[in-house]
Amino acid sequence: MARPHVDRHVFVVFGATGDLMRRKLLPALYQVSGTLEEHPPAFRLLGCARQGLDDGGYRSLVERSLAENGVPAATARRWARDRVHYASLGESTAADYARLRARLEAIERAERLPGHRVFYLALPSEAIPTVVRALGAAGLAKGPGWTRLVIEKPFGTDLASAQELNRELHAEFDERSIYRIDHYLGKETVQNLLVFRFANMLFESVWNRDRISHVEVLVAEQLGVEDRAPYYDRAGALRDMVQSHLTQLLSLTAMDVPSSMDADAIRNEKVKVLAAIAPVRPGDVVRGQYGPGRSGRRRLRAYRHEDGVRRTSTTETYVALRLNVNTWRWQGVPFFLRTGKRLPEKRTEIVVHFRQPPVWFFRGPLPPEVTANTLTITLQPDEGFELAFELKRPGHAIELETHRLHFLYSEAFGPLADAYQTLLVDLMRGDPTLFVRADEVEAAWKVYAPILERPPPLLPYPAGSWGPKEAERLPGELGHAWSEG
Ligand SMILES: NC(=O)c1ccc[n+]([C@@H]2O[C@H](COP(=O)([O-])OP(=O)(O)OC[C@H]3O[C@@H](n4cnc5c(N)ncnc54)[C@H](OP(=O)(O)O)[C@@H]3O)[C@@H](O)[C@H]2O)c1
Repeated sequence: MARPHVDRHVFVVFGATGDLMRRKLLPALYQVSGTLEEHPPAFRLLGCARQGLDDGGYRSLVERSLAENGVPAATARRWARDRVHYASLGESTAADYARLRARLEAIERAERLPGHRVFYLALPSEAIPTVVRALGAAGLAKGPGWTRLVIEKPFGTDLASAQELNRELHAEFDERSIYRIDHYLGKETVQNLLVFRFANMLFESVWNRDRISHVEVLVAEQLGVEDRAPYYDRAGALRDMVQSHLTQLLSLTAMDVPSSMDADAIRNEKVKVLAAIAPVRPGDVVRGQYGPGRSGRRRLRAYRHEDGVRRTSTTETYVALRLNVNTWRWQGVPFFLRTGKRLPEKRTEIVVHFRQPPVWFFRGPLPPEVTANTLTITLQPDEGFELAFELKRPGHAIELETHRLHFLYSEAFGPLADAYQTLLVDLMRGDPTLFVRADEVEAAWKVYAPILERPPPLLPYPAGSWGPKEAERLPGELGHAWSEG
């Protein structure tokens, strides 16, 4: 397979000493450098943070992070020595940013680079507006080559703050140069959703209200809040998971055929789905928080007793909701979204439930039970899909049995690239398809505005269970049931 070509550039990371950089970005950048056309290196890495470090000190941090992620020590040392630099932001004054600019230009001169730049903000969200303004004031928002700004979620905490953040970004950067990362979009199965739907007549022709009865999107986490408590306790499951990852999966499942595979054509169709969702009403939502419970023989603490969580916290760790996409294709087909921490297993999937066959042709005193077909698209733990269908059990009696055709990416293609690797290569090539556009972020917040303003009551559930019993009401009232739990 041909190695992707990218313009030679400097990849500048703000927050270069942080957790995201050490655990995700550095290993992904290392892997990416091995897949690119790289003679000479396609990118130099310039790490920035306020901490005072020199190149040598930062290279040691890079080596340690890579070694912790399985890169042999000598290889990690060579990689860091050959392409890694560090610039301290000090007090983040105008003079500090002028020094940063001078450092960046010195690297570009020394390496004969044409001035293409990525600014990756792996920063606490509070720091983003200040850094963006400082980049603008230092004349770094436009360079001699292309300039791309990368933002990590959260993209605001509600519609008003998302709009404010977009205004801040647009004051310095053009929307086309802004890349908002939702790492779910880098997963192979998510990208395959479009190919699966639009390249297979079999599926796209039944992908509508005539053939589909309802759709479930599930992101179940087995872990609790772990070391993310300070952030998570302010955000909760609705902001952290539903508005971003689950809504992305929903819009890719429900979108119409784009006019081309062009980034904006695809994103236009996703935004149309969001615009067609009636704002979710509190009665269509169940919020929960885990109490004490068990996983096998292990006792699990209540959320309020996790380190870093307020003892009186009313933050939800579970959300289940139902919504309608009011389009010609989906009118009357409920979409059920569900996510939670401390559920019995780690599982991310979209389950498309087809309708029951309209005519039952087997007559007799006890007609066999028919289970409607389902298509399960799995993102975790294994990427792939399963199609459940009915067949006749061998023998004289007419008895039906459900069987499953399955496909696993790992069985067909071996291990998959990490989502960050996919997204980094797209970023370097300037393909924004898998990144979230400003209007998409705002449209997603609008859907959840009523429940953010007036959150429904918080219900307890035992850690290690499938969430509050009350959540069964959401599919139950419409004659359905959750696939799991
Ligand atoms: N960690 C993850 O797995 C993960 C996953 C998805 C998204 N994210 C998002 O990624 C971002 C970074 O998360 P993180 O977990 O890496 O945070 P972190 O561990 O707290 O690291 C923050 C980094 O930013 C630097 N920093 C903080 N304030 C700054 C400022 N005002 N100016 C310049 N640099 C500053 C810190 O170094 P100094 O203090 O030396 O400046 C440090 O390098 C957040 O938006 C988070 O929501 C993280």
